[in-house]
Amino acid sequence: MRRYVPRRRVNLSLSMVPAVAGHFLGPRARRASIVRELELALSGRFNGMPVLAVDSGRKAMVLILQAVTLQPGSRVLVPDYTLDSLALLIRDLGLQPVPVDVCTRDFNIDPGLFEKAVLEHEPAVLVAPHMFGMPFDIRTIIDACKRHNIFLIEDCAHALGTNYDGRQVGTFGDAAILSFSSIKAVHGLGGGAALFKDPELAEKAQELILENVKGYEVGRIAGATLVEELAFNPRLFGLLAGPLLSRPGFADALRNLYRSGKSGHGTGNKRKKTVPRRISGIQAALCLAGLKELGKGKNMRRKLSRIYRSGLQGIVHLQDIRQGSDPFPFAQVVRLDRPAREITGKLYKQGIDAGKGLEIMQSCSKALGMPPLPNTKKLLETCLELPMSSRMRDSDARRVVDALTSILE
Ligand SMILES: Cc1ncc(COP(=O)(O)O)c(C=O)c1O
Repeated sequence: MRRYVPRRRVNLSLSMVPAVAGHFLGPRARRASIVRELELALSGRFNGMPVLAVDSGRKAMVLILQAVTLQPGSRVLVPDYTLDSLALLIRDLGLQPVPVDVCTRDFNIDPGLFEKAVLEHEPAVLVAPHMFGMPFDIRTIIDACKRHNIFLIEDCAHALGTNYDGRQVGTFGDAAILSFSSIKAVHGLGGGAALFKDPELAEKAQELILENVKGYEVGRIAGATLVEELAFNPRLFGLLAGPLLSRPGFADALRNLYRSGKSGHGTGNKRKKTVPRRISGIQAALCLAGLKELGKGKNMRRKLSRIYRSGLQGIVHLQDIRQGSDPFPFAQVVRLDRPAREITGKLYKQGIDAGKGLEIMQSCSKALGMPPLPNTKKLLETCLELPMSSRMRDSDARRVVDALTSILE
């Protein structure tokens, strides 16, 4: 059977087995305190910031926005090119999401356009992701946020393990969010975390969490993760997911299967009311095991990223590396001089799966019923997500480089 190189793999590792077994078979006292153990471990990595582990990265953002207590209709800036449900969740909270365009060189929020948007919209909050693990222009953005009294939420869904100036990103703003979904650096069968600079805000947020994630929900996420694991298995990929991914709607269906299982807030119309809940014990046990392997996963991805960067230099536009940063290579997204849809079919014929357009990232403007902003539109058309995961072989990355080079040259 042909061996494919799928664009992503569920972040599974052998350490998950003892983590699950130890959780169920271990002492009851540890089971009771394991969520706190995870929060303390994360806090240690994030300069002692108080941490609340909740049921998804999106819910972590909701929790922070609820704790900040904003006037209804307050403006919240978000980059246009990111997960669109962030904008929808902000709107659902009675706030006004305002998309800002991104930079086509590093795919992050554009500092110049951000300053313009600040003067025009007088926002109360900025939610800024470090896209694909690469830090945004932290110095410039922090400086502007301080000058204009804007509460900065660093979205570290892609950037657990990314350092800037020797510090984990997420420790620079007023608050940060993490995600523990299946393909993230730390996988906890869903889950996320909210981190706060101000301990009083963390205490306030703590009171807003009313209940824990239920066991049956973790079971549902485990089922969706199993589907994902099989769909993106290199041997099985050509049977089902590969041919179906090229069909409009399949990528969305897969994403929604997973997202709605995780937090009840998918990107489709079935968005349920969003109340942040505490992560469950088993999820915390998995995250703790994953945290111990973070460095190993980063080294493996770094090797793959080096193969891509040296092999594709001058052939595609690589994401700019921020000076002073040590990024966790979460995803390898490159920009082409032509529409990415012209390339994916040719790569697939060579056994390589690559993502394009809304499969990689969405437009917040589009989700809010407006046309995407110009740079976001360009990125949605011309960006290609190359295969990347901690389980991928170096030889696969070389195969991708050779295939893409022969197609583009
Ligand atoms: C940039 C960004 N922010 C936030 C999230 C939300 O994380 P979660 O899926 O845990 O809600 C994601 C998810 O992939 C993301 O890509």
